Amino acid sequence: MLADVIDLLADPVDGTPLAGADDCARLVAESGHSYDVAKQGYVTLAPGAGLKHKGDDAAMVEARETYLSRGHFAPFVEAVTGAVQDVVDLAPEEHSPALLEVGAGTGYYLAHTLDSLDGARGVGLDISTHAAKHLAKAHPRIGAVVADAWERLPLRDGVIDAISVVFAPRNPAEFQRVLAPHGQVVVLTPAAGHLDELRAPLGILGVEEGKVERMYEQAKGYLEQAADPVDISFPIVLDKASIIAQVGMSPSARHISAEQLAERMASLPESITVTARARLDRLRPVR
Ligand SMILES: C[S@@+](CC[C@H](N)C(=O)[O-])C[C@H]1O[C@@H](n2cnc3c(N)ncnc32)[C@H](O)[C@@H]1O
Repeated sequence: MLADVIDLLADPVDGTPLAGADDCARLVAESGHSYDVAKQGYVTLAPGAGLKHKGDDAAMVEARETYLSRGHFAPFVEAVTGAVQDVVDLAPEEHSPALLEVGAGTGYYLAHTLDSLDGARGVGLDISTHAAKHLAKAHPRIGAVVADAWERLPLRDGVIDAISVVFAPRNPAEFQRVLAPHGQVVVLTPAAGHLDELRAPLGILGVEEGKVERMYEQAKGYLEQAADPVDISFPIVLDKASIIAQVGMSPSARHISAEQLAERMASLPESITVTARARLDRLRPVR
């Protein structure tokens, strides 16, 4: 709930601390700006002009929920949780760990991590209101926030123990600002060849080359490598319903119509074994 993370939140316009008002129906900044909490439990923290992008639409979020609930990415969620636990262990003293997941989607990863960290709480941030509705229900200790990762993050300086980013946008300058001195960012990036077995038969988009190199390039001066990267790869057996969900939650959903997908799916066997590939990096603030 937002009440669990309110001490971490700040006004997206001027950075002053936010506090709950009217039984947490609104969040109010010291500077007087006020943000209504939606009845579904999330809050949109954006400057007056509003958000410039929409993020994943309702159908993409539903497809993601279906796909992830089938456990196909279990090794990814275990790896992210393990890395966040290691980072939280670096905190100098016992406290209630504060997590942030950026581009948190349905909250699958953040909820799993919170389950294994007693007393921790987490801000689930996504630009999509459809995702935020899921995030607000994903775990009692998640505070769901709609905000743009490319803008000033609605968080106070130096309050976050660990940031996780799974297949989602990063903002190195802001990550450096909101992390505690011992804090780190855990990033999971799709690797070349991720789910390649689906690409040719379905005509879906591949993973761009040089993604990780670009991440380190953009992070220069703000974040630096904190641990050796870990390559993760594992086979997954997908039936047709899971393949449809996988395509529906990916950027390819915007390029392939339901009819085209049905036509291409007809030539596939009832199930297909694909290989998931990603790389896990840990970065710490440059001080
Ligand atoms: C590929 S999905 C990954 C979702 C989640 N991390 C997962 O793996 O299940 C990318 C997510 O980032 C969100 N997103 C895209 N652009 C964003 C932005 N500028 N700020 C915040 N979230 C953004 C999308 O709405 C979507 O939920």
